[in-house]
Amino acid sequence: MFEGPFSHSIIHRAIKKGLAEIHIHNIRDHSKSKHRNVDDYPFGGSSGMVMMIQPIADCIESLKAEREYSEIIFLTPDGERLNQSIANQLSLKENIILLCGHYKGIDERIREKYITREISIGDYVLSGGELAAAVVADSIIRLIPGVLSDETSALSDSFQDGLLSPPVYTRPAEYEGMKVPDILLSGNEKEIKKWNLEQAIERTRRRRPDLLED
Ligand code: 6GU
Repeated sequence: MFEGPFSHSIIHRAIKKGLAEIHIHNIRDHSKSKHRNVDDYPFGGSSGMVMMIQPIADCIESLKAEREYSEIIFLTPDGERLNQSIANQLSLKENIILLCGHYKGIDERIREKYITREISIGDYVLSGGELAAAVVADSIIRLIPGVLSDETSALSDSFQDGLLSPPVYTRPAEYEGMKVPDILLSGNEKEIKKWNLEQAIERTRRRRPDLLED
């Protein structure tokens, strides 16, 4: 599940250049049971299985013995919703553990003892935290200096200034009668900048008025 997202394009290049390291650990490798179990029936008899303490705790302890971590993040639908501001904060950290559970959850005591932050990637349920962890990792790694070829391009992303991005165009200047706005062909940098900002504000007002609220 992780190999795909991390072995292409920007993130792959970042890893190859040594700007980021990703290590994947299988909690099952820390199971002490014969069948490598990592979950057990919930106390109180609710439905689904719960990931038990020991394999997760052993995995985290073995990592902490090697290096210090500034955050141990649990990916969970009841966490705080990921946004650009959180990605920006996390991109300044040194080492981060992203703990993936399955959606019925992990023993609450793991959360109490180890977890420093809980993150959700949106209001829907995934079958496990792995895809969410890949999303979080991508959102962080692309912000590390040197990862994007044009250093300014992360700053002009949607959300980085609280606005959606304006429309963009490339050649041809006319396609089936649809023309690129004249202003973008004018060479007038000041007017182009003004137009882009107006478009960004208008697009945000129409599509995501919630972003303009506070
Ligand atoms: Cl972090 N995990 C799962 N299982 N589902 C999610 C999620 C995380 N964020 C949104 N849905």
